[in-house]
Amino acid sequence: MRTIGVLTSGGDAPGMNAAVRAVVRSGCEKGMRVMGIRRGYNGLMYGDMYEMNLRSVSNIINRGGTILYSARSPEFKTEEGMQKAINVCREVGLEGVVVIGGDGSFRGARDLSLRGIPCVGIPGTIDNDIACCDYTIGFDTSMNTVMQMVDRLRDTTESHDRCSVVEVMGRRAGYIALNAGIACGATTILIPEIEFDFERDVIERMKRTQKTGKRHFIIIVAEGIGGVSEMAKKIEEVTGIESRATILGHVQRGGSPTVRDRVTGSLMGCKAVELLEKGIGNRVVATRKEDIVDYDIFEALNMTKHIDEGLYRLAHEISI
Ligand code: ADP
Ligand code: F6P
Repeated sequence: MRTIGVLTSGGDAPGMNAAVRAVVRSGCEKGMRVMGIRRGYNGLMYGDMYEMNLRSVSNIINRGGTILYSARSPEFKTEEGMQKAINVCREVGLEGVVVIGGDGSFRGARDLSLRGIPCVGIPGTIDNDIACCDYTIGFDTSMNTVMQMVDRLRDTTESHDRCSVVEVMGRRAGYIALNAGIACGATTILIPEIEFDFERDVIERMKRTQKTGKRHFIIIVAEGIGGVSEMAKKIEEVTGIESRATILGHVQRGGSPTVRDRVTGSLMGCKAVELLEKGIGNRVVATRKEDIVDYDIFEALNMTKHIDEGLYRLAHEISI
């Protein structure tokens, strides 16, 4: 392929810039023309793109967000929207597109591939909820941010002998909550994948640890469960422990990416270009343990991923 495009789509994630940089640098080094498409599929539908060169991606590996901007683009899901994007690809001469985003973005990439524009997806989302991937770009940075924020909360929670009920992101998945919850030493972690009983898993657990001398508590709740304000009220009513709710929100999506996100983004960006160079599209780049692999997008979208229940049990065993 002589001309390829790269876009970032859906919720941004720290490390997307590292992936963009790798796509641009390895594409240019292979003699390709690389077009940076702005604001996800919107840029593809309306031709908002520019030719990038080796220097277009200088000084971005350390930056959160995405220099290409991101968007959710409902119009692209319509047949007319899709057709606009295909026409733009033909006009500009785009022979392949690297789509960095979550599984919604991959559905778009699959549809484009089906209509003759080969696409390769790179998993970029803090949620780590893409079935074919052990790991998605942004997850590590986000968990570290949660850990730092909850460490701060712990200071004030401890000073006041309080309970902090903290909501973390993850859409319908509990990966951030589970892993950051362990790192924060949460008394209880509530995630959508595992059934819980509020009385048994929160109230009784707090009372039991209280008897061993514990006077402050951190409860981590995945956004897929939600309701942290009501939970804090209930805890205060039933236990008498003063409680506060905190929703960490979009702070979890920002910040300078960690080593893991920079390295993973770089490796995945190079892999995506390698595939397109060989004329291979309709693939998702993924991690499998230490390896960078790739899957057919249809296959990838039909895979399922399960949270590690053993890890969940262990988290509760050691947080008492
Ligand atoms: P993510 O990629 O993070 O999962 P979204 O689900 O918001 O985020 O998807 C990002 C964009 O991908 C959407 O705004 C839309 O343009 C495109 N998209 C999502 N789902 C589909 C679909 N089923 N078919 C085609 N395009 C889709
Ligand atoms: O997918 C990333 C994510 O941050 C989710 O954790 C969260 O549910 C969602 O995006 C928030 O989306 P928005 O930025 O549109 O509020």
